Amino acid sequence: MKPVEPASLEGIEISTPEFWEKSLPEREGAFLKLRREDPIRKFKEIDFIPGLPVGDGFYAITRHADILEISRQPEFFCSGRGATSINDMPTEMLEFYGSMINMDDPRHARLRGLVSKSFTPRVMQTLMDDVQRTAVDVLERIRPLGSFDFVTEVAMRLPLKIICQMMGIAESQYDFVLAKSNIILSSGDPEYIPEGSDLIQAFMAAGAELAGMMADVGAHKRSHPGDDLTSALVTAELDGECLTDQELASFFILLLAAGNETTRNAISHGVVALAANPDQRALWMHDFETIAPTAVEEIVRWATPVVFMRRTATRDVTVGGHQFHEGDKCILFYNSANRDDRVFPDPYRFDVRRDPNFHVGFGGPGPHFCLGAHLARREITVMFRELFQRVPNIRITSEPDRLRSGFINGIKHLEVALN
Ligand code: HEM
Repeated sequence: MKPVEPASLEGIEISTPEFWEKSLPEREGAFLKLRREDPIRKFKEIDFIPGLPVGDGFYAITRHADILEISRQPEFFCSGRGATSINDMPTEMLEFYGSMINMDDPRHARLRGLVSKSFTPRVMQTLMDDVQRTAVDVLERIRPLGSFDFVTEVAMRLPLKIICQMMGIAESQYDFVLAKSNIILSSGDPEYIPEGSDLIQAFMAAGAELAGMMADVGAHKRSHPGDDLTSALVTAELDGECLTDQELASFFILLLAAGNETTRNAISHGVVALAANPDQRALWMHDFETIAPTAVEEIVRWATPVVFMRRTATRDVTVGGHQFHEGDKCILFYNSANRDDRVFPDPYRFDVRRDPNFHVGFGGPGPHFCLGAHLARREITVMFRELFQRVPNIRITSEPDRLRSGFINGIKHLEVALN
């Protein structure tokens, strides 16, 4: 892949939906130019999601070093003012989407402490066994098919089942959970929310439906606790405190969304990258276990499933030679940092043995670093091990159908054949 740089900085409009529909080389070219010529550049804010309040602009942070510096200083660059999306979230939306990702300490530390305590070794061990079993089930189901959609039949299935099993959600609810989490992270893609609909209404309805389902699951687990995370959470206490019902609901929504879409897209992008780089595929297949740790990190760098997170300056502070003022919105473009040639030699090369690989696909170093990184790495490893063993002849037969979103680097559909 060779980036195509735009003629001028003025022509770059990353805040418009049209920008995210451009070809990959054009988008990469725009970020390359920003990193080189104006790595902290102000952009106009638009109502990317119509109905959300429009502020007076944001800074696109595009270099790896600046993203690290901002992530490391949560007291100066917070997550809890207006949310981590570009547009602030109205209070009523924060009811469902206001979990720890949109909080600062001490609330964040309290919630994360409570939740991390519930990721007990027993819950984790059961989960690791489930990942293996589920990957095998998913692939055995598609083996007899000649051709199919890899995203809906494979990549979606593993993270969905894992996250639901983790939370003790019945199998009969999986499709419901999938449909709602697709809406929440769709950025309004018309495949998930019909064109012309009220997007805020659609996000709120999806959040409310998931919260309703989780309230029922939580109530059941309170009286019939099991080995799952929901049981641990509804009974967990930190300094004598339990999660409130609202904290529980928004945490579940975060986990469902964060755990589903991200891992799914990492797996799909991994399949595309390996097909486009048969030498890398052959290397990894030949010595799977040795190469897996670096290959999985490279897949996450390459895919960067979460394109950005926002931080908001809490006071006047300087980073990368730029003076920020209190209230400035800083959008940390992880996709751009993950192609920064100051950190990654030959960044547009997919290299399964890349080492070191200081990517920020799971976020920068700081209190919000992805809580599910360990689980995601495990899911990706198991999925590729099983893919190589069970369907080594898998072949892509059409261009990936991309999600129309500047937030999630998503593939909606990927047609493949097994011959
Ligand atoms: C390849 C897969 C994944 C990617 C690329 C990814 C990426 C991210 C990113 C970029 C953040 C924000 C970091 C920041 O703001 O500094 C994050 C946070 C988070 N992720 Fe993941 N994630 C993945 C898988 C998962 C899974 C499987 C789970 C759960 C089972 C999960 C749960 C979370 C949670 C709860 C947070 C919020 C943590 C906090 O605010 O303290 N993620 N993730």
